[in-house]
Amino acid sequence: MYTDICSKIGIQYPIFQGAMTFVTDKNLVAAVSNAGGLGIFAPGDDSSKGDAAWLREEIRALRKMTDKPFGVNLAMRSSKIASFVDVICEENVRIITSGGGDPTEHIAKLKEAGVLVCPVVPDAKTALRMEKLGADMVVCSGMEGGGFVGTVSTMVSLPQVTAAVKIPVIAAGGIYDGRGMAAAIAMGASGVQMGTRFMLSTDCTIPENVKTAMLAAKSKEAVAVDAMFRRGPHLRCLKTQIVTDLQNYENGNDAQSAVYMERFAAARDEQLLRDGKVDEALLPMGEVAGAITELRSAKEIIDSMMEEYKAAVSTMPQF
Ligand SMILES: Cc1cc2nc3c(=O)[nH]c(=O)nc-3n(C[C@H](O)[C@H](O)[C@H](O)COP(=O)(O)O)c2cc1C
Repeated sequence: MYTDICSKIGIQYPIFQGAMTFVTDKNLVAAVSNAGGLGIFAPGDDSSKGDAAWLREEIRALRKMTDKPFGVNLAMRSSKIASFVDVICEENVRIITSGGGDPTEHIAKLKEAGVLVCPVVPDAKTALRMEKLGADMVVCSGMEGGGFVGTVSTMVSLPQVTAAVKIPVIAAGGIYDGRGMAAAIAMGASGVQMGTRFMLSTDCTIPENVKTAMLAAKSKEAVAVDAMFRRGPHLRCLKTQIVTDLQNYENGNDAQSAVYMERFAAARDEQLLRDGKVDEALLPMGEVAGAITELRSAKEIIDSMMEEYKAAVSTMPQF
């Protein structure tokens, strides 16, 4: 199955591995790109320690691990954004996705350098605005997904976005197999982006005890924490002790907001995640975790998705 985004990017299958701060290191990115999908590196936002020199090294190291295209995710509100954009242009990265903020002021520079620009959008209005600004494609991200999310589901926002814009749309949030991909394509998408499914893979380097906790979780345990004390956006993550603590604050009064923000920021910590501190770290995860029961390699995930997609399409009832 070869779609318009495959030829634009130079990938075999229309499957993106969603960028995941603290999670998508070069091992996972290279594994996905080598398997024919698009691996996307996540340098993260101000909660990540890496600077522009580190990003350049990671991109160069990735080039030694795969000769296939890969992407980099840009957290637009990061204080490092200008220097990251420079590195991406200088290193000829094929494509960027943008998260956490508005990419408007960087689009022209990226396009001039030949970088494909793919903002992540929650709705048709934002998708249209990005198309007018010159975006090459957009990821439409629904609230079922892991990480920072909006409030509308993929099932509802995706057909609105594909109806609104002419550029290709990639569906994200709540997709973990070929049946989900078939549904997204039926709604006009040109491909899919998955985060949680690739996080729960043997190529992902997060600790095994974190993966085990996520594999055991039910969909209803992927809960949205209010990242700014009732002022949104929300961070969907595994319901652990820190999440319960934060939710107790959310139900409290405004005087608690400073303590809340402090606890939230402290729990979004790479070291806590890498040390496998399940009850102390915020562990972003989508609702699909409840449907995933085993770790697979990135290649197995992509190959089985393509088989499931074909089966879903060929057995679809004709009316
Ligand atoms: C652990 C984790 C971290 C994430 N970090 C980012 C990020 O840094 N930037 C971004 O644009 N999206 C981020 N996301 C969202 C993913 O790229 C992807 O769109 C989302 O996981 C799709 O939903 P799914 O989890 O149902 O597959 C993150 C998701 C997870 C699970």
